Formats: sequence, C-alpha cells, structure tokens
Amino acid sequence: MARITAGIGSSHVPLLGVAVDQGKTRDEYFSPIFAGYDWTRDWEKQQKPDVVILVYNDHASFFDMKIVPTFAIGCAERFGICDEGWGPRPVPDVEGHPDLAWHIAQSLILDEFDMTIVNEMDVDHGLTVPLSMMFDTPKTWPTKVIPLAVNVVTYPVPSGNRCWALGEAIRRAVESFPEDLNVQIWGTGGMSHQLQGPRAGLLNREWDNKFLDMLVGDSDAARWIPHIEYLRETGSEGIEMVMWLIMRGALGKKTRCLHRHYHIPCSNTAIGHIVLEPEA
Ligand SMILES: [Fe+2]
Repeated sequence: MARITAGIGSSHVPLLGVAVDQGKTRDEYFSPIFAGYDWTRDWEKQQKPDVVILVYNDHASFFDMKIVPTFAIGCAERFGICDEGWGPRPVPDVEGHPDLAWHIAQSLILDEFDMTIVNEMDVDHGLTVPLSMMFDTPKTWPTKVIPLAVNVVTYPVPSGNRCWALGEAIRRAVESFPEDLNVQIWGTGGMSHQLQGPRAGLLNREWDNKFLDMLVGDSDAARWIPHIEYLRETGSEGIEMVMWLIMRGALGKKTRCLHRHYHIPCSNTAIGHIVLEPEA
C-alpha cells in the first residue's frame, strides 16, 4: 500500500531559483535562507520518497486567463520547465507518476472533488524552486512528482477548509493505491508578502509564525482562517498559504514537527519552511 510519510511546507520565491542557478546560495544575503534548508536536504537523502505530490500554483506561466482551473492534477509522464521571461530555469524536466496520478484523480472525483486532469503541462518556479531547495542541483530529480496546481492567482480562490478537505481526500486516495510507495506531500507558496500597491513589501513575522504553530499537533483551526484575514495580515500574495492546508489535511488528525525555519526578508517575501510527520 502507498503511504504518505511526511509533509513539507515551503515558500517558493523565484529569487531562490536564481540564487541556485547562479551559484549564490552561500552569499551573505542568501546564506541564512539556504542554511534553514540544510537539515531537510540531509533528511530527504535518507527518506528517499518515491513520489512527491507537489501542491503549488502556476503564476500565469502555463495557465492564463483563458483557463483557470481551481484544482488541477498533472497525470503526464513528464513535465517541461516554463519560460517565465528569462528562458526556462536550467533544471531537469520533472518526471511524473501517471499510474498514481490517475488513481488519485479517479479517487478524488468519485470522492466529489472535481479535478481538472492535465496531460500536458510545463511547470514554473512554484514547483521547481521547492525541488531545488530540497534536492539542490542533481542531474535528474531523485523523486517522481505529481504536480497539483491550485488557483490562488485569480479570485475566487478555494477556501482553506476546501483545501484541507482535499488533503484528507488525497490521503484516502494514496492509501488505496496497492503498490508500496513512500509518498510525500508538499504545500508551497507564501508566506506573508504583497508585491504591489501601497502595502507592497508587507511582511508579518508574528502572523506567519502563528500559522506555522497551527500546523503542528491536532488543531484544525487553520482550515477556518478566512480569505480576508490572509489579505489583511499577510498581504495580497499571502493567500498562497491555503496550499499548505492541502498538505496539512493529508497528514491526518495529528502531526509532529521535525524541522522549522523562518527568515525575513527574501526579495519582498517572508521565507517559511516546516517539515511534518503524521502522528497516529
Ligand atoms: Fe507563488
């Protein structure tokens, strides 16, 4: 049986991809950020996940206003890298797991989550930056990846509660897949940031850390945070954090924190990172 063995929450700031690609991760500016991921990089070498369900959002790189799927699951064999304006990042293509992805799609749809099935897709920094943070610069990524894209760019975006419930349904889907697979789920984006308007540059260390606290243990309070609170407290782009709730929902009733890291600023953004294990 396949099992979800761990969950990771992580920011996916595009500047971090630039730092990796240009070999600047230990520069004075980036060093405290990347040092917070050292523990996780070593831990992942031992964990060796077979598949990562990687929850992220596309930043109008592959999807655009013509089609805005709320929840989309990538069922392809392989995913290319988006050109986000400076050419595609020099990272390997992402290898999918079509058998598990189709199984999850079927299970979710019969479980009344109307997923968009995507059989051809390029992925942007929302997906590749977390892979770089966790796995550095390998020739090929050491895990298969099922991209799960969430619309957090164009309102209406899904509620925290709906995201959490989707995570619960993903757990049921994975646990009904007969093959023995070590599956992780990552939720990416955030933390507090606002990129435009009079509040551009807004960061909120206190709120972000309260959010990280809420992911640990048996509280499900985070699923009830309304959109307006993310907007008010964490800026217009802080809404990306609802994607972390898909990860948290997939870990079951209770979690244990293995590692946690927070740093501001990175570009205009607060960097947060947490590694969680489901606890029976
Ligand atoms: Fe993002």
